[in-house]
Amino acid sequence: MSQTAKPLQIAIDGPAGAGKSTVARRLADRLDFLYIDTGAMYRASTWLALQKGISLEDGPGIARLASSADIVLKPADETSEGKIRVFADGQEITRAIRTNKMSDQVALVAALKEVREILVERQRELAGRESSVIDGRDIGTVVMPQAGLKIFLTASPEERAHRRLKELEAQGERPDFKDLLAAIKKRDHLDSTRAVSPLAKAFDAVEINTDQMSIDQVVDTLEKLARQAMSDKCLT
Ligand code: DC
Repeated sequence: MSQTAKPLQIAIDGPAGAGKSTVARRLADRLDFLYIDTGAMYRASTWLALQKGISLEDGPGIARLASSADIVLKPADETSEGKIRVFADGQEITRAIRTNKMSDQVALVAALKEVREILVERQRELAGRESSVIDGRDIGTVVMPQAGLKIFLTASPEERAHRRLKELEAQGERPDFKDLLAAIKKRDHLDSTRAVSPLAKAFDAVEINTDQMSIDQVVDTLEKLARQAMSDKCLT
C-alpha cells in the first residue's frame, strides 16, 4: 500500500562545524520539507536564561523557562546570513545566539537533562506534523530513532577550524587558527562526553565525511539518499 502521505523525517547529526545546518537547510529547500534547527532551540533557551539571570546550571529553572517561552524558528532570509531566524517571546535573537561566547555557554545548558526533556518533546511534536529535516547531535539516537533516513555528517577538526577561519575572515575578523582548532576540539569533547544524550552516530546512520566535499556535493549526495528513502517508503 502506498504511504506517500506519511511524513518522512531526515535526521542529520554530527559535531559542531561539520556544515549540518547549511546542508540541512538546503536539503529541506530542495525537498520542500520543514527544516528544524534544534541547536537554535538550545541557543534560545540559553539566551532566555541569561536574560532572566537564571544560573546556567539550574536545569529545572531553565526547563520551566523554555517550556513557557514562545521560541519561534522562521526561515532564513537576506537579513540572517543563511541562518534561520530565531525569536524568543517576540524578540528577534538570530544574531545574539550565535556569538562565540554564546556557543560556549549553550554547551552547558545542552547538558541539562530537564532542558533536553522539554526541547526533545517540542522537536518530536514539530517533526511529527510534516516531512522534515532535523539537525542536531541526538536526533537519530534519541529524538527520532525511527527517522526514515539518518545521516552522520563529519569533518576533521582541522578542516572544520579552517572553514570557520574563512567564515570569520570573510566577516572582517582576524582569528587565530590554533585558537579556533582548540575551541572546536573542546566543543567536541563536551558534546560527546556529556552524561545525557551525548553526540553519537546511530547504528543505522549513513556516515559522510565532508573533508573533500563542497557544500553542493554534500547536498546532492543527501538529496539522492532522501529521494531513495522516499521511494522505498512508497514501496513498503
Ligand atoms: O548546532 P549548534 O552549534 O547550534 O548547537 C548548539 C549547542 O547545542 C551545542 O553545544 C550542541 C548542542 N545541541 C545538542 O546538544 N543537541 C542538539 N540536538 C542540538 C544541539
